[in-house]
Amino acid sequence: MRNYISAAAFAALLSPPVLALYERNYHSTSLAIQPLNILERAASYDPNNTTLFLVCPQGEVVSQPAPTIYDSHGELVWASPNIGLCDDLNYQTYNGQGYLTMWVGSGNGATGLQTGSGTAIMLNSNYEIVQNVSAVNPGLTDLHEFHIVQPENRTALVTAFNPIPLDLTSVGGLANGWYLNSIIQEVDIATGRILFNWTSVDHIALAESYNNISVTGEGTNSSFAWDPVHINSIDKDREGNYLISARNCQTIYKLDKNGTIIWRLGGKTSDFKAQGEGDTQFHWQHHVRWREDETQISVFDDGAGVLDTTVVIDETVATGKYLELDQTTMTVSLVQRYFPTLNTGPSFAEGSIEPYGNTVIVGYGSNPWVTAHDLDSGDVLFSAVIGPNNSSLWLGGISNYRVFQTSTLEFVGHPTQPPAVAISDGDVYVSWNGATHVSSYTLLTGSTASTVTKKVTSVVKTGFETKMSMLGGDAFISVTALAANGTTLGKSAVYRTSDGSIVSR
Ligand SMILES: *[C@@H]1O[C@H](CO)[C@@H](O)[C@H](O)[C@H]1NC(C)=O
Ligand SMILES: *[C@@H]1O[C@H](CO)[C@@H](O)[C@H](O)[C@H]1NC(C)=O
Ligand SMILES: *[C@@H]1O[C@H](CO)[C@@H](O)[C@H](O)[C@H]1NC(C)=O
Ligand SMILES: *[C@@H]1O[C@H](CO)[C@@H](O)[C@H](O)[C@H]1NC(C)=O
Ligand SMILES: *[C@@H]1O[C@H](CO)[C@@H](O)[C@H](O)[C@H]1NC(C)=O
Ligand SMILES: *[C@@H]1O[C@H](CO)[C@@H](O)[C@H](O)[C@H]1NC(C)=O
Ligand SMILES: *[C@@H]1O[C@H](CO)[C@@H](O)[C@H](O)[C@H]1NC(C)=O
Ligand SMILES: *[C@@H]1O[C@H](CO)[C@@H](O)[C@H](O)[C@H]1NC(C)=O
Ligand SMILES: *[C@@H]1O[C@H](CO)[C@@H](O)[C@H](O)[C@H]1NC(C)=O
Ligand SMILES: *[C@@H]1O[C@H](CO)[C@@H](O)[C@H](O)[C@H]1NC(C)=O
Ligand SMILES: *[C@@H]1O[C@H](CO)[C@@H](O)[C@H](O)[C@H]1NC(C)=O
Repeated sequence: MRNYISAAAFAALLSPPVLALYERNYHSTSLAIQPLNILERAASYDPNNTTLFLVCPQGEVVSQPAPTIYDSHGELVWASPNIGLCDDLNYQTYNGQGYLTMWVGSGNGATGLQTGSGTAIMLNSNYEIVQNVSAVNPGLTDLHEFHIVQPENRTALVTAFNPIPLDLTSVGGLANGWYLNSIIQEVDIATGRILFNWTSVDHIALAESYNNISVTGEGTNSSFAWDPVHINSIDKDREGNYLISARNCQTIYKLDKNGTIIWRLGGKTSDFKAQGEGDTQFHWQHHVRWREDETQISVFDDGAGVLDTTVVIDETVATGKYLELDQTTMTVSLVQRYFPTLNTGPSFAEGSIEPYGNTVIVGYGSNPWVTAHDLDSGDVLFSAVIGPNNSSLWLGGISNYRVFQTSTLEFVGHPTQPPAVAISDGDVYVSWNGATHVSSYTLLTGSTASTVTKKVTSVVKTGFETKMSMLGGDAFISVTALAANGTTLGKSAVYRTSDGSIVSR
């Protein structure tokens, strides 16, 4: 049953930003981060500690929004000190090489109520920005999609939104109304050339939208344009056709490479008939991708939506789903529904579902939850929340657009900055933001700044920041970072023990 909540009632759900108190601080760096709080972790999950989760937490209580990597014990691995607000942090292959990719810019990325204006960027394993990718004319690149497309991995699919004047009387709006045009583009990454340019106004009927103008009042001017379609993901199949998710039509569209709509799944005029017992419906969905040799799709079924300031709740729980599509008989059936266990509830925006090996990672978007499931059985192997237990935008807190996974077997982060050291109360604290393969640290000392060679102690890395006793330390110290095989990966500056100041690099 659909349930509308007024803007005032919705605002009342948003409690004061007390969650900020939960931020974690360190001695050796000024980073302040909401930790990944582990709720469940099966003994069999990630036994070799290779998993890395890629996220962009943000919201009122996140004082330093940043592209962020956590390990599966909830420890910080990397948070960019300078990139700021981002969405959609991922690890993608371009031209045979792996890159960290994300959207950066401005806009209300925190709630997904609006679209963002910015650019997509690509970082190498030294965390240096090596490429910008933008949708061009009209508008800037929106936050919702930056998808490097297989098999060539040389082009990217991006979204853009652009308000245009349009007669909206057929849907209860103004004759001189404004329409927020959903645009998708395929961009050649190296040259910036636009290879495909498609806009919703040319193809999707106004009546397909669930964004009811009588409820939202949108469309009165260009900065309050009616957002009837709201494309939030794009995929491409091996024949070159596109698969797009239009949240506000609650419809997934397949487009021919010539732009014609081939079929609709879901929404008011679905071309598919449901088969079997499973619930194949989705509401306000995100992150639609072809899976299993293009016989199935995965979709994050939010279950709720926000239209301007109106919250619409269609389901009691957000879930990731795999649906099997038979494009000959035009039938759809549920393959698997990935239910969360501890934190449950609808998400009103954002979210993702992505397989990794024999697991499926679900990100709950406006609820900053992460679950990892067995791909086949759907069993929860791991669940966590960014920030404190029960953190949710429903309760005033944190959101995270999508969650992706990589592993230390494929991503080797090697920062250009050296390990950072702080000295406090006879202890040495060391961290190395972004270094993925440090196994231990060795403390070296000397009586002069140029003779810091005597080994004091070696300790196993215990998390983002490792504490060592300075007992036995002389006037100057430095710390080296070592890999499990004993290789020295990096060395800190030399520090003066009397006041903790840096003497030399
Ligand atoms: C969060 O919930 C888990 C599972 O109920 C519990 O073990 C843990 O102590 C809680 N953590 C905090 C910080 O409340
Ligand atoms: C963990 O590492 C060991 C030793 O390298 C390897 O044999 C094993 O397959 C790994 N396990 C997983 C689940 O990756
Ligand atoms: C994985 O990390 C946990 C927690 O830090 C640790 O107890 C365990 O020994 C680690 N496992 C391996 C194989 O390093
Ligand atoms: C494209 O990227 C995918 C996923 O990372 C990878 O499996 C594939 O090998 C890449 N193809 C090329 C030609 O680099
Ligand atoms: C990315 O774009 C910005 C702004 O246009 C520019 O300053 C920067 O040099 C670009 N970086 C790369 C690597 O292209
Ligand atoms: C993309 O299409 C829009 C709408 O038709 C048009 O205004 C714009 O100029 C096109 N952009 C490019 C780069 O072709
Ligand atoms: C839009 O909302 C109005 C007011 O709640 C309602 O009367 C009308 O039936 C709705 N229209 C559609 C198409 O749902
Ligand atoms: C656009 O309309 C909204 C809603 O009525 C209003 O709050 C806003 O001030 C208008 N903006 C402009 C530029 O007229
Ligand atoms: C465009 O694609 C549609 C759907 O596949 C097809 O029916 C139509 O013939 C195509 N048009 C052209 C001009 O190729
Ligand atoms: C979430 O909050 C509810 C109500 O306060 C509580 O019963 C539940 O245990 C909490 N969940 C976790 C994971 O802490
Ligand atoms: C030692 O480990 C590091 C980090 O994993 C790796 O880069 C390096 O190649 C390894 N060296 C040897 C000799 O195996």
